[in-house]
Amino acid sequence: MKASEANDPPFGADSTGNRGEGPLTHDPYRGLATIYDACTEPFNAGLRHMGLKLAPPRQGQRVLEVGCGTGTNLLNYQRAGSVVFGIDLSPRMLAQAHRKLGTAGRLQRGDAVRMPYPDAVFDLTVAMLTLHEMSRTTRGHVMVEMARVTRSGGRLLLIDFHPGPLQFPKGYGIKAFILMVERLAGREHFRNYRDFIAQGGLSPLIEAAGLQVVRQRIVSGGNLTLVRVRKSP
Ligand SMILES: C[S@@+](CC[C@H](N)C(=O)[O-])C[C@H]1O[C@@H](n2cnc3c(N)ncnc32)[C@H](O)[C@@H]1O
Repeated sequence: MKASEANDPPFGADSTGNRGEGPLTHDPYRGLATIYDACTEPFNAGLRHMGLKLAPPRQGQRVLEVGCGTGTNLLNYQRAGSVVFGIDLSPRMLAQAHRKLGTAGRLQRGDAVRMPYPDAVFDLTVAMLTLHEMSRTTRGHVMVEMARVTRSGGRLLLIDFHPGPLQFPKGYGIKAFILMVERLAGREHFRNYRDFIAQGGLSPLIEAAGLQVVRQRIVSGGNLTLVRVRKSP
């Protein structure tokens, strides 16, 4: 498929990020979307930078971010010449992403459990700080979906919390901060975070989806990890 075909249904969404899937009953990011970048970029900008180094942008490649939020990762890839796509449950987060990316960013409101893209169409599929907030069943399905839409030989970049072991004392201080933030994010969010960590974080998900780790970095005293994954040809 050529990049110009990427806008055609059913592959592409309209670039407003609102495809008329009906109203969401609950958007946990509703009150946060407009301040999300200001609150989180002091912590997340470094991670994004490391992610770009681990999975560098390539001119003309199709990049999908699952749980794209306000679109900051996609903006970095777009600036480097990639064709960017994002899917997210939250209309408010997508509205922020739309402002950043303009009409060139193909944004889709929807649940990543079942994505409206054909098999094997993306060169790089990214998920940053998204899988940990899903229930165990959901995150397993989403990882399989991410593998499905990534082309054979393509890359996935996963950035999320890590179960450790933690470095003393740095890792323990950062862990206390993360626990506070995750607890503030709500009961369900916190339950899912704890389950994600208890289950071993990203590694079992990658394995269960039949993907291969190419490179991994563990940072923040053992609390966060960045993994570049390959889908076998
Ligand atoms: C912590 S934010 C991270 C946003 C972005 N990846 C970043 O790095 O800034 C997690 C995002 O995942 C989205 N999300 C959670 N579950 C989802 C699902 N099942 N399908 C699509 N998006 C989802 C949320 O709406 C939210 O925007």
